[in-house]
Amino acid sequence: MEVLDYDAIILGSGLGGLTTAIHASLKGQRKIRIAVVTKLHAMRSHSVSAEGGISGVLYPEGNEDTKELHAYDTVKGSDFLADQDAVEILANGAPEEIRFYDHIGVSWNRTDDGKIQQRPFGGMSIPRTAFAADKTGFFMMRALYDEVVGLSNVDIFHEHFATSVIMDGGKFAGLTAFELANRQMKLFRAKACVIATGGCSRVYGFTTTAHSSTGDGIALAYRAGLPLKDMEFVQFHPTALVPSGILITEAARGEGGYLRNNRGERFMEKYAKSKMELAPRDIVSRAIVTEIRDGKGYTHEETGMQYVHLDLTHLDAKLLDERLPMIKELSIKSINVDPHDEPLPVRPAAHFTMGGINVNTQGQIISGDGSGTAGGMWAVGECGCVSVHGANRLGSNSLSQCSVWGRIAGDALPGYISKSSTIADASLLSRAEAEEKRIDALLESRGSVNPYDLQARLQKTMDDLVYVYRKTDELADARKAITQIRSEYANVFIADKGSEFNSNLRDALEIGNLIDLAEVIVEGAIRRKESRGAHAMVEFPKRDDKNFLKHTIAVRKDGAVNLSYLPVSITKWQPVERVY
Ligand code: FUM
Repeated sequence: MEVLDYDAIILGSGLGGLTTAIHASLKGQRKIRIAVVTKLHAMRSHSVSAEGGISGVLYPEGNEDTKELHAYDTVKGSDFLADQDAVEILANGAPEEIRFYDHIGVSWNRTDDGKIQQRPFGGMSIPRTAFAADKTGFFMMRALYDEVVGLSNVDIFHEHFATSVIMDGGKFAGLTAFELANRQMKLFRAKACVIATGGCSRVYGFTTTAHSSTGDGIALAYRAGLPLKDMEFVQFHPTALVPSGILITEAARGEGGYLRNNRGERFMEKYAKSKMELAPRDIVSRAIVTEIRDGKGYTHEETGMQYVHLDLTHLDAKLLDERLPMIKELSIKSINVDPHDEPLPVRPAAHFTMGGINVNTQGQIISGDGSGTAGGMWAVGECGCVSVHGANRLGSNSLSQCSVWGRIAGDALPGYISKSSTIADASLLSRAEAEEKRIDALLESRGSVNPYDLQARLQKTMDDLVYVYRKTDELADARKAITQIRSEYANVFIADKGSEFNSNLRDALEIGNLIDLAEVIVEGAIRRKESRGAHAMVEFPKRDDKNFLKHTIAVRKDGAVNLSYLPVSITKWQPVERVY
């Protein structure tokens, strides 16, 4: 087996991973050796799909905006589950990040006087979302990637699929990954590891996310005995195009789009009178599902999917072309509807994992027993739950989260590396070889179960039973279904036995990750007998601060999900009723 030695490994190549690589390089004066390991080509990371923008207070003067207001909006949006110390770090750090992207060449939309333009987004009191048309993530990734390829101390291992994180005495020791082109397993040894692999929205079938959003890093950490936090909080984006799930950015509503039911009514008036279509996503998603359940939706002829209308027909054609060009193009190409002429069919789809690997405010992963941190391990971006989103993320806070904690982790790495050493004993190699054998055995298995059937059943279970509204009996049914799927997974058959670009093998491993994470989502949801943010329980319609103002922690013990709870950090704002 090839053994590669680095100072630090960054697993994942989206915004979180690349910002970490850049800041670690700069802070370490380009002297520390970094491997970015990614299952995709870096420029295919899901961050390129981010559309609407990045939040941050850029122009407080004359705008009546403050970082404190950004923080409060975020805390209120989170239904008071966010850790307020972390939220303040987000709001304080975000403006510097937007300016950093400006310096490295992101083509922000600008006002006539040359300022970076900012648009309204849901739950934000003031327009504070900077954007590059509706392709913000793409432009940010392009600028970051250009920077990273210029760094001689950073090697990018594109198309390498990670299979395990190896720990030694509570510290990071190494990572196994095989190259997709030839299935060669490699052991990456390093002093530190930053996991930046994104979320796991592909546990659902109807999702805005890429097929690659399978939560691999979260699952690897979980299987390495590290704790996950608040996984039951899945964000459903209100406006996914029917029937594909393609994201129709919230910016479409930020730019003035309306939601209408089958009577033509702007129904948000009933649910969030002051914010209307720009209420936080949990509220808008529930409103859409409620309208549909009350018989006020439309039915998609081919699929039977129900939806409401996102009406952009009243918007100026020039505005659509300048600020939402991709939405227009995608709608025409995928359903042959020009949003200038006709409303778009939309319904909520899984969009973002608000939980993730439990990290402290510095992005360091907490140890399995909760007593401290796992040595040399960070998680940044969507896969890490620092908890700035709590029970409901405000749109555009994710890009700032990736950037702020990419910098924090990157800045911390050189100092950590200078004080630690690589664990290079023989047992590490033998553990990596055992992992290689496990993958070989999976490939050679004579099982009979088609992993894609399991994936389809898992996604249908989650779509049908763990959606916007949740019910106790449906969650119990979901648990049963996932247990059955898990037992069948032990018997999967991988059709392609070859070594070149074996996507069947990769997919089977991803599906294994999804099964583990779906189980954690459902267990957390069953135990949380209240409604908070995106977790809306039909039998417990109210938020219950007395019993549930706490984070759910999930640790794997003897192959099962083990739950415990941790307090929320409340530094400034006592929870109040959330009214919009
Ligand atoms: O609607 C959007 O453009 C999505 C933004 C986000 O999830 O932050």
